[in-house]
Amino acid sequence: MAYKVLVLRGDGIGPEVAGEALQVVRMVARRSAVDVEFKEGVAGGHAIDQFGTPLPDDVLKLAQESDAILLGAVGGPKWDNPNADKRPEQALLGLRKALGLFANVRPVKTLRELIPASPLKPDLLNGVDLVVVRELTGGLYYGKPSEKRQGKDGREAVDTCFYSEQEITRVLRFAFELARNRRRKLTSVDKANVLSTSRLWREIASELAKEYKDVTLDHQLVDSMAMHLVRRPRDFDVIVTENMFGDILTDEASVLAGSMGMLPSASLGEDINSAGFRVGLYEPIHGSAPDIAGRDEANPLAAILSGAMLLEHSLGMRAEAELIERAVESVIHEGYRTRDLGAAPQGKLLGCKAMGRLVRERIEALEPEAG
Ligand code: IPM
Ligand code: MG
Repeated sequence: MAYKVLVLRGDGIGPEVAGEALQVVRMVARRSAVDVEFKEGVAGGHAIDQFGTPLPDDVLKLAQESDAILLGAVGGPKWDNPNADKRPEQALLGLRKALGLFANVRPVKTLRELIPASPLKPDLLNGVDLVVVRELTGGLYYGKPSEKRQGKDGREAVDTCFYSEQEITRVLRFAFELARNRRRKLTSVDKANVLSTSRLWREIASELAKEYKDVTLDHQLVDSMAMHLVRRPRDFDVIVTENMFGDILTDEASVLAGSMGMLPSASLGEDINSAGFRVGLYEPIHGSAPDIAGRDEANPLAAILSGAMLLEHSLGMRAEAELIERAVESVIHEGYRTRDLGAAPQGKLLGCKAMGRLVRERIEALEPEAG
């Protein structure tokens, strides 16, 4: 039986980058004789235009029946009114919650050749290789009440940061396990000097550390973490934090890799799919970049690397994922660049389509590693 992958291209550059990622995933699956059936759905701004809702019911249903979801990006100026009751971002938030995707994995690896693309000092960046695990279905993003209302002294608004022990424990466990398979260093980020949710977070992290004696746990306050991340990024291996802190720190961390256009992500839950692996949603961490949409200028590598994460985490195809990663590293090594990656040697500045095509050519040329 074929595995089911739902493709949600989204808005802005979403369709362009997701299109390249889809072609890569399709090709790699075919080469490995793994049968994958791709379906497409409309979500985000285009779904609001066409169906009056960012996440139509039948798209959600398709998502729930899929083994994995590949997403481009959602949003754009057309739907930007923060007071509108329907916003493209609700598609993402709705999918994350409905599918129980509580662990958002955002690897940040600095490729040597892309160090000049970062505004940070080169000697800080050489060898950066970290993963942020961001809690994705709790905290301020989902707590109730969350509303703007009329108070007795004028307008007021409230958001609620709520975390249960179970929500904190499962994401911390996920991060401990990940650290165990890497360099065995886990940094838990909170604001325990101020917030109750953070104090519970820290307490549970310390309790779990007793079960993971092989992993060194360190606690950092989020404000100083923001500083350490750009001062000594090489010191970090796995970083785990709550939803909002993770949102902010991962945009900061993208500067380490030279461009947001290089960073993939996986959002995983507890549900096991028909392949025997975790159901997941895979997307580049960048947004829909409306300013360059439709111009064939976007960097498809983050989306392509998200496709690699899909193969690895939801279909168990680790060798194939590595193949894609090697192909991406090799095009960068050969000097090919999209616009976001800064100066390119003569003739090596590529558009989105050409970059995608080149990655596929390199994959053709590489043999999958035994694994
Ligand atoms: C992200 C994005 C989303 C978030 C937005 C688009 C809702 O910034 O995935 O990091 O805040 O989670
Ligand atoms: Mg964000």
